[in-house]
Amino acid sequence: MRLSAVSLGSLATAAATGAADHEERGAVDLFEYQAKELFAKHGVPVLPGEVATTAEQAAEIAGRLGTDVVVKAQVKTGGRGKAGGVKLATSAEEAGEKAAAILGMDIKGHTVHKVLVTEASDIADEYYFSFLLDRANRSYLAMCSADGGMEIEQLAVERPDALAKVPVDAVKGVDAAKAREIAEAGRIPAEVIDQAVDIIVKLWDVFTGEEATLVEVNPLVRTPDNKVVALDGKVTLDENADFRHKDVHDAYRDISATDPLEVRAKEKGLNYVKLDGEVGIIGNGAGLVMSTLDVVAYAGEEHGGVKPANFLDIGGGASAQVMADGLEIILSDPSVKSVFVNVFGGITSCDAVANGIVQALGMLGDKETKPLVVRLDGNNVDEGRRILADANHPLVTVVDTMDGAAERAAELAGKAS
Ligand SMILES: Nc1ncnc2c1ncn2[C@@H]1O[C@H](COP(=O)(O)OP(=O)(O)OP(=O)(O)O)[C@@H](O)[C@H]1O
Ligand SMILES: [Mg+2]
Repeated sequence: MRLSAVSLGSLATAAATGAADHEERGAVDLFEYQAKELFAKHGVPVLPGEVATTAEQAAEIAGRLGTDVVVKAQVKTGGRGKAGGVKLATSAEEAGEKAAAILGMDIKGHTVHKVLVTEASDIADEYYFSFLLDRANRSYLAMCSADGGMEIEQLAVERPDALAKVPVDAVKGVDAAKAREIAEAGRIPAEVIDQAVDIIVKLWDVFTGEEATLVEVNPLVRTPDNKVVALDGKVTLDENADFRHKDVHDAYRDISATDPLEVRAKEKGLNYVKLDGEVGIIGNGAGLVMSTLDVVAYAGEEHGGVKPANFLDIGGGASAQVMADGLEIILSDPSVKSVFVNVFGGITSCDAVANGIVQALGMLGDKETKPLVVRLDGNNVDEGRRILADANHPLVTVVDTMDGAAERAAELAGKAS
């Protein structure tokens, strides 16, 4: 199944998943400028800056900041600096030129649409810091190193001792004492360790307060006058906590990177994933929907290689409205040629589902022109089938078995494409 989350490509995610780029459903990855907004909200020191989408805006922001600036590509992947996506400018005019060069650039398959124009900092040292959900060890993990910066991946491989990994107890959390333990393990120098401790506690506030699964700062710098500042930021929010953070999550979800049908499904609270086939699928229960994808793909081999067009689980209590919402999303996908509704009546009995389908078709009215194959089984199946038979909708075929229904849906899609 293609998953829709973008990959962040950080050292921390690499450590947690064993892969350099991860794709995870249920995660909201933020741009650097958004991560830094959250940092500022929790009192983590960051430098002033603003986002621009044109060279003119970038020059204007640099003029307003009135300092040397760094123009930084905003893309959700690692290694921006190495790819030429982070550039110093010593005048507003130069900031415009640098922005013009960076905007439109391709960094590991991500096109740059926005740049952050931010104050340039003098740098004495670059540190690395992160909190992450360590799934393998079922705990939280802090990682810290006095040798941060763009070579951190190399450091992690060549000198693993220089990268401290300190487990964090989810219940005890991170207080000043724990933060000091982490900073000392990472060998943060004595003259700035108090500042680092304070920042680590605040980053823990970001991590828990915003319900993140990753908070990473690389580099966290020491300036020549011994100030510690976060120059970069990566945050992944836990989408499962959406309902507690609606404002933040809605503001930061990257709609442009998501399939428009998935965005609409999400708005309607549907568990929908777009795939690239021709047979629309609706089922109740993730397991049933998964097996439906399999049988349709198998049946499709005999019908010109048609495949499932989506994953959609309408869950246990399939009301007419949910059925209508689901059908509406699937039918508005131009590649869908037929739809297979596969429902096993459990808590919601088949007659309720059948009524839902009939009402949903009524709600959709003339918009509905693609054939539907319905397979009902389980609780009160006879009544459900009778309701569909009585409705006698011209586009609906009822088939008793799952394999038979998959075969019919694939055949209809094969003929239409
Ligand atoms: N505001 C700034 N002032 C001075 N130097 C900066 C600033 N921001 C970044 N840099 C320098 O550029 C380097 C790369 O910047 P940054 O960490 O933001 O991008 P990156 O790490 O290459 O990208 P990614 O984190 O996506 O891998 C930093 O290590 C730092 O040396
Ligand atoms: Mg960085």
